[in-house]
Amino acid sequence: MSKTAGCCQNCLHYVFDYETTKTLVIPSTLVGCVFRLAQLLILLYTVGYVCVVQKAYQDTDSVISSVTTKVKGFSLTNTSDMGPRLWDVADYVIPPQGDKSFFVTTKMVVTQNQVQSRCPQLPSPSTTCVDDCDCTEGYSNPRGSGIQTGLCENYSTTVRTCEVFSWCPLEIDTMPPKYAMLTAAENFTVLIKNSITYPKFNFHRRNILPHINSSYLNSCEFNRATDPDCPIFRLKHIVSEAGEEFQDMAVMGGIIGIIIDWSCDLDWWAGKCYPKYSFHRLDNKDPDHTVAPGYNFRFAKYYKTPDGEETRTLIKAYGIRFDIIVFGTAGKFGIVPTIVNLGATLAFLSLIPAVSDWFLLTCMKKRDLYRKHKVTYLSDDAHTESVSD
Ligand SMILES: *[C@@H]1O[C@H](CO)[C@@H](O)[C@H](O)[C@H]1NC(C)=O
Repeated sequence: MSKTAGCCQNCLHYVFDYETTKTLVIPSTLVGCVFRLAQLLILLYTVGYVCVVQKAYQDTDSVISSVTTKVKGFSLTNTSDMGPRLWDVADYVIPPQGDKSFFVTTKMVVTQNQVQSRCPQLPSPSTTCVDDCDCTEGYSNPRGSGIQTGLCENYSTTVRTCEVFSWCPLEIDTMPPKYAMLTAAENFTVLIKNSITYPKFNFHRRNILPHINSSYLNSCEFNRATDPDCPIFRLKHIVSEAGEEFQDMAVMGGIIGIIIDWSCDLDWWAGKCYPKYSFHRLDNKDPDHTVAPGYNFRFAKYYKTPDGEETRTLIKAYGIRFDIIVFGTAGKFGIVPTIVNLGATLAFLSLIPAVSDWFLLTCMKKRDLYRKHKVTYLSDDAHTESVSD
């Protein structure tokens, strides 16, 4: 027989020889243990991690939600320029709409009776002047306070600054008060109404749970230990659970996140779906780097005097913004993910004989004997079997 013909015959053997499994029983406890241990591991992984921890047999859906808020509380202030004054919700909550992000004013710089006119700027290295030649008519510095008129005016008896056309008198915010004005804000409460939907499961719920009646709602206040379901929160409580002191935060302002977690297991045997509240400070308070701390912004209220002149009150408001963040994923038994995960488990189990075989043929003492019997080549012509390697 020529060499090529022999090679060809070998190839044909590989392609057309029929292989069938023959059961080889090996009475070795060690291999048996390895086999059972591998099965146990995969079973533990499937039951413990895939089913219990991951709940991989479930379909999942993300939450869709709407939030409204209503703040309540009063505060009395007594300042030299405004006298005694009562502040209610319409005064200190911005915007008034009750959005999922609301701002509670705690301190302000109020500049009353501003009109469009000319006045000298506040003294600073870029605004001081000696005479009119230092000021350019029409020049406006975006960080300044108006358009220069080209005149150099007396700001005080000792300082002269370039005059601007602007809302005058200008706001003096170089020395904002070091204390919060609306200190009573810590005792304000906010009612949070949150409705959620998991559209895939047609599941709807509110954070005012079915067992809450109106008399409870009128008197309750959220407390993690005693009233965990009450949707009314005292601002001081929110801030202190976020790890901050309300009165400290009230001075420079800041942002607090109210996180509502609606992660739910909707299977009937779990059957619980309640909101879980947590609070975090969202703007980063870096004690070693106190440039531009806190949160503030300006807004104005406009009036017309009887003789038709427009005036305004400019308010620079410092305060705490509360952002309500709702998140959650719901899971419910689904046939498709169950089948997929069952298939994955079966595929894992089918790998075990290969692992055991490898152990048998490489790690056991009698591996040569096992290797000899592992594959049997049955010759066509003889009744004897040849044991291949
Ligand atoms: C807030 O209320 C508590 C008791 O309810 C009171 O002791 C505290 O003085 C109040 N805070 C302010 C700033 O009024």
